[in-house]
Amino acid sequence: MMGMAKTGNFLFLLAVLLCFPVVPLANIKRNISTDLSALLALRSNVLDPTHELLTKNWTTRMSVCNWLGVKCSSRHHRVVALNMSYIGLQGSIPPEIGNLSFLNSFDFRYNSFTGRLPQEMARLRRLRYINLSFNKFSGEVPSWFGFLPNLQYLFIANNSFTGSLPLSLSNASKLEVLNVQFNQLQGNIPQEIGNLGKLKILNLQGNQLTGSMPPAVFNISSLQRLSLTSNSISGILPVNMCFNLPKIQAIFLSTNQFSGQIQSRFKNCSELQVLALSINKFSGAIPREIGNLTMLSKISLGDNSFQGEIPREIGNLLNLEILEVGYSSLTGNY
Ligand SMILES: *[C@@H]1O[C@H](CO)[C@@H](O)[C@H](O)[C@H]1NC(C)=O
Ligand SMILES: *[C@@H]1O[C@H](CO)[C@@H](O)[C@H](O)[C@H]1NC(C)=O
Ligand SMILES: *[C@@H]1O[C@H](CO)[C@@H](O)[C@H](O)[C@H]1NC(C)=O
Ligand SMILES: *[C@@H]1O[C@H](CO)[C@@H](O)[C@H](O)[C@H]1NC(C)=O
Ligand SMILES: *[C@@H]1O[C@H](CO)[C@@H](O)[C@H](O)[C@H]1NC(C)=O
Ligand SMILES: *[C@@H]1O[C@H](CO)[C@@H](O)[C@H](O)[C@H]1NC(C)=O
Ligand SMILES: *[C@@H]1O[C@H](CO)[C@@H](O)[C@H](O)[C@H]1NC(C)=O
Ligand SMILES: *[C@@H]1O[C@H](CO)[C@@H](O)[C@H](O)[C@H]1NC(C)=O
Ligand SMILES: *[C@@H]1O[C@H](CO)[C@@H](O)[C@H](O)[C@H]1NC(C)=O
Ligand SMILES: *[C@@H]1O[C@H](CO)[C@@H](O)[C@H](O)[C@H]1NC(C)=O
Repeated sequence: MMGMAKTGNFLFLLAVLLCFPVVPLANIKRNISTDLSALLALRSNVLDPTHELLTKNWTTRMSVCNWLGVKCSSRHHRVVALNMSYIGLQGSIPPEIGNLSFLNSFDFRYNSFTGRLPQEMARLRRLRYINLSFNKFSGEVPSWFGFLPNLQYLFIANNSFTGSLPLSLSNASKLEVLNVQFNQLQGNIPQEIGNLGKLKILNLQGNQLTGSMPPAVFNISSLQRLSLTSNSISGILPVNMCFNLPKIQAIFLSTNQFSGQIQSRFKNCSELQVLALSINKFSGAIPREIGNLTMLSKISLGDNSFQGEIPREIGNLLNLEILEVGYSSLTGNY
């Protein structure tokens, strides 16, 4: 299965690399009429059972630029942003959306869209912002996300995406937010993600990811928030994991299969506010260095195999609001 998925990705990649340059996109004449037909295709693809917002509002009596959720640029007079969020739409995204060649923002959060995203969307080279969260999109996470050179925000939380994280994502070098939480993703976290040198938020929570944490992820020095909660990631944390994470504010690793001692792993994460390690197989002592992470406000360590005492240095943490250590073999009085 894995092999087939990988081969599929590779073939698609080849197809992208081979086909796109021979179709000279710049020579296809597109104008606001193209955008109109693309949006009419969308309108006829969706059901709007509760409000009929689109059927009432998206009428050809008005310019598309005045339609609900549509924004045009004044310079090119083309559609640059589509915001269909919170409308309760059902249906799928038609391939014609790939003709909205000036689109930079695609916000479809909180609807009931189903099916796959059309491959034609790979042409939307200006896309900077994609938010599909809280829909019912399915299929593999499209590998063409990785070929959108301007992509900064990719938010596909709470959908039904399956398969593994595409390696090509590592080519979206401007990516700042990658949030795929609560899907059904499997396989390893690709080490190529370490190439995303501008990433601030990496949220993979609530999937079925396995394997160990690729060390390269700890080299993303822009990272502020790392969430892997509720997967099946195993292995130990590298000793130097905090050496290249000067900006990290929150580390969520709870409900995984991590093991080994944590010793001084977190020493150099000096901006850390949240450290969640509960429900894993960590062992050994809780290191005193934690008491030097003065920004910490929440620590959860429970349901591991930690031993020894809760270090009294933790009492120095003036910002600490929550210390959770349930179901451990910790001793000492507090
Ligand atoms: C768009 O281009 C087509 C030809 O490709 C032309 O017929 C049409 O008038 C143009 N529409 C606008 C609004 O410029
Ligand atoms: C559609 O909605 C937009 C934005 O709310 C509004 O400006 C426009 O007048 C509406 N058009 C129609 C035909 O209702
Ligand atoms: C889309 O509209 C919603 C609701 O009005 C708003 O909260 C959201 O910020 C908008 N999205 C973008 C990308 O501007
Ligand atoms: C828009 O996209 C569709 C489907 O991808 C394609 O068949 C059609 O020729 C395109 N139309 C224009 C005007 O670009
Ligand atoms: C995407 O939408 C979700 C749900 O409303 C929101 O929490 C999140 O902040 C949005 N992501 C971005 C990058 O705007
Ligand atoms: C997102 O998915 C998670 C896990 O299935 C679920 O607990 C949560 O309620 C969902 N959020 C929404 C707003 O549907
Ligand atoms: C990233 O892009 C380069 C150049 O387009 C390509 O050679 C490489 O295979 C891509 N990497 C991945 C992992 O897709
Ligand atoms: C992390 O970065 C350091 C310094 O830039 C480099 O020597 C090391 O090989 C990198 N590690 C990984 C796993 O990418
Ligand atoms: C870790 O932090 C200490 C100070 O607490 C500093 O001396 C050391 O250089 C840091 N190491 C790295 C690799 O950043
Ligand atoms: C904590 O910091 C103090 C000074 O800020 C230093 O003396 C001490 O060695 C540090 N403790 C640990 C365990 O790193």
